[in-house]
Amino acid sequence: MGAPCSRYDCCHFGAEYPLLTFGSAVEITGILKKSPHEKQPVELEANQIRVVGECNPVDFPFKVKKRHSLEYLRQFPHLRCRTNSFSSLLRIRSEATAAIHSYFKSNGFVQIHTPTITSNDCEGAGELFQVESSNPLHAEEDNFFSVPAFLTVSGQLHLEVMSGAFSRVYTFGPTFRAENSQSRRHLAEFYMVEAEVSFTQSLEDLTKVMEDMFRSATEHVLAQCADDVDLFHKHVTPGHRETVDAMLKNRFPVISYTEAIDILQRSSEAFLFPTEWGCDLQTEHEKYLVKHCGNIPVFVTDYPYALKPFYARDNQDRPNHTAAAVDLLVPGVGELCGGSLREERLHLLQSRLEQVGLEDIYSWYLDLRRFGSVPHGGFGLGFERYLQCILGVDNIKDVIPFPRFSRSCLL
Ligand code: 4AD
Ligand code: MG
Repeated sequence: MGAPCSRYDCCHFGAEYPLLTFGSAVEITGILKKSPHEKQPVELEANQIRVVGECNPVDFPFKVKKRHSLEYLRQFPHLRCRTNSFSSLLRIRSEATAAIHSYFKSNGFVQIHTPTITSNDCEGAGELFQVESSNPLHAEEDNFFSVPAFLTVSGQLHLEVMSGAFSRVYTFGPTFRAENSQSRRHLAEFYMVEAEVSFTQSLEDLTKVMEDMFRSATEHVLAQCADDVDLFHKHVTPGHRETVDAMLKNRFPVISYTEAIDILQRSSEAFLFPTEWGCDLQTEHEKYLVKHCGNIPVFVTDYPYALKPFYARDNQDRPNHTAAAVDLLVPGVGELCGGSLREERLHLLQSRLEQVGLEDIYSWYLDLRRFGSVPHGGFGLGFERYLQCILGVDNIKDVIPFPRFSRSCLL
């Protein structure tokens, strides 16, 4: 403790404003007391205030007592973590990460660090970033790894390897997609939570894990970060708390893709994209289905076989030929999770891989079916979309510390 600081009135920067300004870094010594104001439990009675780092308030992009929009903050990726809304977001993100690990730990899942560099394109969508050495010494070699290598688009196939040894596995890490990411729900680098469960009997074994994880993580975040979540629900996305409460109060309904198409075709909405059986569901369709089901998360199951990657399990249900795949659609976002039962029957998997000319590349994957195969399935959840969903944030770039998307400058 020392004498009260006399530097409050000091003028710097050409004597235009005092040293202690909004944005400056300070060290304060004093007494932490119970506050008489009902909105704050404690207050700090300062004896000494030392300005450690000055800040020119004219040039500093954030202004005192002004609530800047998330869109405005996005222009300053190197400074926005200092605002109270973005620091709240980052604390929530950190707590949600811990909650997801804790859910898996309490439910018998083993965490696997799946590789970031891989030669497989699990989703088969060709949205890959290729990895090569920039060292000129390697320039003469065709490929550093002897085969083309990419940043992972999903850890699923590696988790499937592990699910032959452990019955429940998961991974949670950065995932990369070279898709047009100018949208409000796509990034070039995002975090995905993926789980794989062995000895599955139906899609219900997966929807249960998805719903339980969603509830458990959300309840944890609401309890552990109450003030930070309140700040969002009061000032950034007013009214969103009711949506979150409704999500937690109700069980998530399940509809089939065929039912979903029927709902879309019967609606009076003028959709931009076609709603014929066999067409992929677009964001506009997903958002409509969520509203139709009461603005709570909804599972859509059994998509057309032709729309799903080679690993999805064939339902063998002609003429509407479907695969045992499931998406979880949520308010404001659309698709939050995508998953499926995996084709565990060797002959069916083999013939599908042959049809798409991938049987050689995936001979190791076929081995998993040759040697002690069990029915299994899994899903992936986009972690940023999860944060958008519980906080009501419209743009995915506002829920990740440093967004990467096409045609953006990297920090
Ligand atoms: O539906 P996706 O493509 O599923 C898979 O990758 C499976 N192999 C997962 C599995 O079964 N293990 O991606 C899963 C989720 C999507 O539902 C979405 O929430 C998110 O990942 N996602 C993205 N999030 C942000 N930016 C992108 N570019 C994303 N692409 C997918
Ligand atoms: Mg998907």
